[in-house]
Amino acid sequence: MYSKLLSCLNSIRKITDFVPEAGLVLGSGLGDYAESIKTAAAVEYSDIEGFPVSTVKGHKGRFVFGYVENVPVVIMQGRVHYYEGYRMSDVVLPVRLMGMLGAKKLILTNAAGGVNPAFHAGDFMIITDHITTGVPSPLIGPNIEELGTRFPDMSEVYSIRMRNIIKKSAEECGIKPQEGVYVQFTGPNYETPAEIRMASRWGADAVGMSTACEAMAARHMGLEVCGISCITNMAAGISATPLNHREVQEIADRVSSQFKQLVTKVITNI
Ligand code: HPA
Repeated sequence: MYSKLLSCLNSIRKITDFVPEAGLVLGSGLGDYAESIKTAAAVEYSDIEGFPVSTVKGHKGRFVFGYVENVPVVIMQGRVHYYEGYRMSDVVLPVRLMGMLGAKKLILTNAAGGVNPAFHAGDFMIITDHITTGVPSPLIGPNIEELGTRFPDMSEVYSIRMRNIIKKSAEECGIKPQEGVYVQFTGPNYETPAEIRMASRWGADAVGMSTACEAMAARHMGLEVCGISCITNMAAGISATPLNHREVQEIADRVSSQFKQLVTKVITNI
């Protein structure tokens, strides 16, 4: 795995020597954020040897390097999901690469279903912690000693410092953010109402199909991590209507300008 990471890194370094301060992973509704930044370089995933290329429609596949208000960032435009059939180690490969490119901080974003009944579609949730019981750990397999320790601590995956920055940034944008625990399931199906009741009793506030595994891999290698969920729908059984991807996308698109404004503020305050 480490040699695969090195060969990916090598492919990128042939194209650009840009060193980012922060990495940003774009979820639904933020896909075009990378187009709004001062771009220095872009690397298509398909040009990176051994890189897992996403198959989801509407997910662009490239790293964009550039500046958000003078902060050097690398943006992952299009992520890789476990439900596409990749091994977890491949799902988190891009995030590990961002760390190897020099990023010290990681901002994860996603679309998620609201499990907490006090949430509403269109809310933003600052991720305080996560539950990954429903997916395999990305750290299973031989430990990559060059990145981190065999048994990494996970007691503060989402940095309190960065959570406070998100709170302050939201305030500056006139957004009242929710806070809560994100649970990751494999997807691609949405959950059943019984699964959502279970998630709720576990202590989850939002549910999704990404992010937590990336956060775990990033913590393993010592990055400072934060995450923001866009609540695009109330989860199964809480919402009275069946879920569909189009509606999730519609809400994500509707709040996308607010989401972009928030992410820009967060990066500026980082
Ligand atoms: N469940 C899982 N993933 C999601 C959801 C959901 O309800 N909404 C957006 N992503």
